[in-house]
Amino acid sequence: MKVAEAKTRPVPSGPDEAFDLNPDEATFHKLADWVSKYGDIFSVPSVNRQKPVVLINHPDYIKHVLVSGHENYVKGSGFEMVKMLLGNGIIVSDGPFWRRQRRMIQPAFNKQVIAGLTEQMKLANRRLFSVWSQHAESGTEINVTEATNELALEIILRAIFSNDYERITGGTNANPFAILTESVARDLQLALKFRALTKIVHEAVAHRRASGVEQEDFLSIFLAARDKDTGEPMTDKELVDEIMTLIVAGSETSATTMNWAWYSLATNPDVETRFHAEIDSAGYTDVPGFDDALQLVYTRQIIEETLRLYPPVWLFSRKAVADDALAGFAIEAGTEILITPYFLHRHKDFWPDAENFVPERFDPDAVKQRHKLAFIPFSAGPRRCIGDFFGIVEVQLHLGLMARHFRLRLSPGQSAELAPEVNLRSKYPLMMQIQKR
Ligand code: HEM
Repeated sequence: MKVAEAKTRPVPSGPDEAFDLNPDEATFHKLADWVSKYGDIFSVPSVNRQKPVVLINHPDYIKHVLVSGHENYVKGSGFEMVKMLLGNGIIVSDGPFWRRQRRMIQPAFNKQVIAGLTEQMKLANRRLFSVWSQHAESGTEINVTEATNELALEIILRAIFSNDYERITGGTNANPFAILTESVARDLQLALKFRALTKIVHEAVAHRRASGVEQEDFLSIFLAARDKDTGEPMTDKELVDEIMTLIVAGSETSATTMNWAWYSLATNPDVETRFHAEIDSAGYTDVPGFDDALQLVYTRQIIEETLRLYPPVWLFSRKAVADDALAGFAIEAGTEILITPYFLHRHKDFWPDAENFVPERFDPDAVKQRHKLAFIPFSAGPRRCIGDFFGIVEVQLHLGLMARHFRLRLSPGQSAELAPEVNLRSKYPLMMQIQKR
């Protein structure tokens, strides 16, 4: 074989059957089988796509697609549904438009802004705290899945609109955005309802512009952002697309992380004991603030371990723009590449005893020993999640407040099954008993 040929062999074939890989349960079960059978790179014939889809499950290959060779990879076709919801928001756009938007939005995610926004996170947590206190008092169980969905939605809406939050949502009961936590199906009907929400966001933007008042929130930062080349601000349409994007990208992901964190704590008592020791000896009196959150090192490791075992974005895709070589295999232009944080995070070469919940894996020394790209709950490279730090701080504050006062235990008969959809949810709401500590 000539050298050139050796470098570009066809990707090893996987299963013979044609199958459309999507973020759904059927795909999840197929992949569980195929990843163990066919290894770190294989192709799957597709029903609807023109070419076989290539699945990669090794940090080196993922590094090529997301980091070193990222210029050649755009978002895959799995983002079409998301596009329907989010117009051309930053999570689905590509190329120069994406770059411009990312640059304009990035300042909203610097440390100082997030520190300021923890005030909004505290407000939302205080509301939930009083609800959970009543349940602890009366001995009634709580629906953790529902509570964390509502909490994360409230937090992102408050981060965007701060003092306008109450006006826009009309109080928590009438919150028109609640359809986002209530609708399980990501279907056309949801898309239509969702587009109706954009009207509310349009009005909120107009109201803020007219008021001329600057607030400490994402909306004011986005309104002030200017294109570095043209000096132009975002148009209203662009602004609304980006706000809707943040609402979607920044609520269910954080909510499922909180959900699985409570589940993991309840089922790993030794971890919970060490966690309580950290929480109880921390210096805060009320809801932890930004500086307190930075001190909650073990809590952060618990969140990272939760994200390893239950990565909310358990599957995502890219598409090759031009022909490429990956791991010595030929990737034709137009080929879709699938990346599955869920299976990567259980890869036996990088994660011994992968099924066990061991936050100590995220001790700095242990992290140094590991391939950097073996842990990608937030993706990697230039398209890495812009809200990664926001999300971690948000979950830290929530756990740090609630666990100081309450212990959560699974209700009798409660189990947790995975529901691998766009996000990795729990199939049934997680019902838990809440006791005062
Ligand atoms: C634990 C919580 C979160 C997880 C696991 C998560 C995960 C991810 C992942 C995997 C991606 C990349 C998808 C891809 O490469 O195709 C992403 C992108 C993104 N996330 Fe997050 N996310 C979280 C929280 C948040 C929050 C709180 C926000 C906003 C406040 C946010 C906003 C975004 C945005 C705007 C993008 C698109 C970035 C770009 O394409 O430039 N995320 N997220």
